Amino acid sequence: MSGLVKRYDGRAVLDGLDLRVMRGETVVVIGGSGSGKSTFARLLLGLERPDAGVIRVGDTDLASASDDDVAAARRRFAMVFQSHALLDSLTVYDNVAFPLREETSLDERTIRRRVTAMLTELGVEAAAERLPAELSGGMAKRVGIARAMVTEPEILVYDEPTSGLDPVTSRTVDGLIERMRERHLVTSIVITHDMVSAYHLADRVVMLARGKIAIDDAPERVFCSSNADIEPFARSSGLDLTHLAPRPTRRSAADIRREWASRAQR
Ligand SMILES: Nc1ncnc2c1ncn2[C@@H]1O[C@H](COP(=O)(O)OP(=O)(O)OP(=O)(O)O)[C@@H](O)[C@H]1O
Ligand SMILES: [Mg+2]
Repeated sequence: MSGLVKRYDGRAVLDGLDLRVMRGETVVVIGGSGSGKSTFARLLLGLERPDAGVIRVGDTDLASASDDDVAAARRRFAMVFQSHALLDSLTVYDNVAFPLREETSLDERTIRRRVTAMLTELGVEAAAERLPAELSGGMAKRVGIARAMVTEPEILVYDEPTSGLDPVTSRTVDGLIERMRERHLVTSIVITHDMVSAYHLADRVVMLARGKIAIDDAPERVFCSSNADIEPFARSSGLDLTHLAPRPTRRSAADIRREWASRAQR
């Protein structure tokens, strides 16, 4: 996306933002409250249109495409919402089946197979008949990921996936995000205030400030940076790189792209 501008009441929240995300990458987006992270996510998902700029998904420009083309491009995305946004009156099973029933013409047998497989993969199959109010925060997050993944998206946007979770559960959620990338080859955009999770997950960390990308670099470098935007962030997070476990070795985004290409050929 390039030159992205979004104004509310004449004030530019995003003011010429440029960012390119490659297939298979995990890009972590950080930034202060009100810096426009959620706005950015809404534009990306086509829920709102920018005032200027280009958001290209494959060959489609979301800013200028017809509503049909925007809808088609949107189907390549899914979002894991911060507040998990599950429907209170539906069971876990029906929540995960919801996007398939709404957006596809799949028959119930196929839906059952896909929903059950996703619930099992995320370790919440035993909770299928429960209501959202009966879930812990960590379980609700798993169900939120299952609901996003069941549509088989190419790009998954997570808005604050670990906020409100204890540190142990947060690391479990990091593991699930990593797993979705490894098994399903999704491109991940992770909006977070959790610097530990940023450090573990990111191929690149980008920071939003003053409506633009202020920093775009590998996490090891970002968290050692003396840049005036990032330094207070890294410091107040208490992140001490000398005491953090080394980053897990993981496949590169290029490896994920190669596997994607070879699966697509089959
Ligand atoms: N629909 C809207 N109408 C008017 N102003 C809005 C609207 N949505 C967002 N804003 C304003 O845009 C700015 C950016 O909001 P946004 O929610 O994108 O920030 P954020 O980075 O996600 O913040 P947080 O970390 O608190 O979630 C804020 O000043 C907010 O008040
Ligand atoms: Mg937000």
